[in-house]
Amino acid sequence: MTSMPELRPLGETLGTEALGIDLSKPLDADTFTWIADAFAQHPVLVFRDQHLNAPELAAFGRRFGKPRQHALIKYRHTDCPEVSWLTNVDDEGKVDWYGVKRATDWHTDSTFEDELPLLAILHAKEVPPEKGGTMFTDMRLAYDTLADDRKHMLSGLTALHGRSIGPAGEKLYGDFKGVTDKQYRDVRRPAITHHPVSGRPILFVNPMHTYGFVGMEQEKAWPLIEELANHATQERFVYYHRWRVGDVLMWDERATMHRGAGDYDPQQRRVMLRTIVYPN
Ligand SMILES: [Fe+2]
Repeated sequence: MTSMPELRPLGETLGTEALGIDLSKPLDADTFTWIADAFAQHPVLVFRDQHLNAPELAAFGRRFGKPRQHALIKYRHTDCPEVSWLTNVDDEGKVDWYGVKRATDWHTDSTFEDELPLLAILHAKEVPPEKGGTMFTDMRLAYDTLADDRKHMLSGLTALHGRSIGPAGEKLYGDFKGVTDKQYRDVRRPAITHHPVSGRPILFVNPMHTYGFVGMEQEKAWPLIEELANHATQERFVYYHRWRVGDVLMWDERATMHRGAGDYDPQQRRVMLRTIVYPN
């Protein structure tokens, strides 16, 4: 490392810029350690002005773990299946309406899979002239600010996760959840988890994939999931990322929820590369 990189906050809670790093070059051990340390404290980390192709993005992801092919076959990158497209444009250059709608409500990725991802990375290639941001919220802070009786109740609860079948998933997708290459069975996870690096408690319930709690009727579970989602996504906890072409943004899948803001003109192109990384 020639000069030390620097951190600069972008939002009140989440959102931190890492300055002075070129991700197109192989990262030396010191720089990698610096990024890993920064990321453990700042779960939404942004690198500006990077211009990576799909294999370079996958290589960056591979420093942290195993990038995995995305469940939605259609969006996989043909040269590099560990990277997928997040795009609102179809093969003929027309608006891809599934792409426009996709992921525009609060969620944590793939909590319905047997194994949880560590982190995900988005790299902006084309962005709308205005809006079209991605929003993040801090689930450590969401836990810290829960009322004591809620903390107590949740500490004894096991949540049920399925692919987009929680309250927000049903509202957003209904019966049109996209074609995947496997069937998902239900996965059970504690409602409160702890961050493996910082040890901080985390509210681990998201309204897209969490659809119930063990031993609780749906009539009680759905209002609770929605109450927790509303609590966790209060404006004071949320960071809205305004994309610039070249941004590489990585987020901690254990400590945050995110969503596409879904607030832009769909006729404007919005094209990103994405990879999702699992533990080695
Ligand atoms: Fe997502």
